[in-house]
Amino acid sequence: MAYLSAKRCRCKSGDLITVRSAVLDDAAALIDHSTSVLLESTFLISQSDELTLTEEQRQDWIRQHAASPTSLLLVAEVDGAIVGMLNFACGERRRLAHRGTLGVSVRKDHQSIGVGSALLETLIEWSEAHPAVEKLCLAVVETNGPAIQLYQKFGFAEEGRRQREVKLGPGQYLDDILMYRFVDVAK
Ligand SMILES: CC(C)(COP(=O)(O)OP(=O)(O)OC[C@H]1O[C@@H](n2cnc3c(N)ncnc32)[C@H](O)[C@@H]1OP(=O)(O)O)[C@@H](O)C(=O)NCCC(=O)NCCS
Repeated sequence: MAYLSAKRCRCKSGDLITVRSAVLDDAAALIDHSTSVLLESTFLISQSDELTLTEEQRQDWIRQHAASPTSLLLVAEVDGAIVGMLNFACGERRRLAHRGTLGVSVRKDHQSIGVGSALLETLIEWSEAHPAVEKLCLAVVETNGPAIQLYQKFGFAEEGRRQREVKLGPGQYLDDILMYRFVDVAK
């Protein structure tokens, strides 16, 4: 079971960040987190009115991550409130089971103080100690400078582009950049 107990670090602002695996009781707070992030960010594919999750569905999602040895669902808390989330899941087919895709988000009022870094650092440490996880993958829209900078800081590189993958409106498109990072430990 991919379950990490709480790890604490101090961020740039001096606040204490707790990073831990999500538990069922986080379901409502995670819906609230996703709704806020979708409302606040123009860089994400989903729009806030497309998020129609119930607490039960979110609990199922938490359960699925907890039950899979190659998945991880992390939350970052400051002062007891969830301000960041990272999800990671490896492929279900045997030939894709060594690589997984991640997503990360931080609430606007807690961005640029190190929360995203704390979440990614935890994923990388976990994957290095994991016997099967060899490659971390993600997709990010070409205009999402803060996220691209964060990924590059942690050694992710571009491996391709999905041209005109995102349509903002008539004649208005964005490419989606695919990025990867190998887990630097022989397995
Ligand atoms: C992308 C995101 C996760 C970064 O999280 P964060 O907690 O703000 O990141 P950190 O504070 O740990 O910063 C890490 C690095 O990211 C970069 N970064 C962070 N904020 C930045 C900004 N506003 N502009 C440019 N670079 C930025 C910097 O390289 C920074 O490194 P540094 O602290 O050494 O300068 C956050 O901005 C976010 O959730 N955005 C909305 C959702 C989203 O876009 N998710 C990614 C989808 S692919």
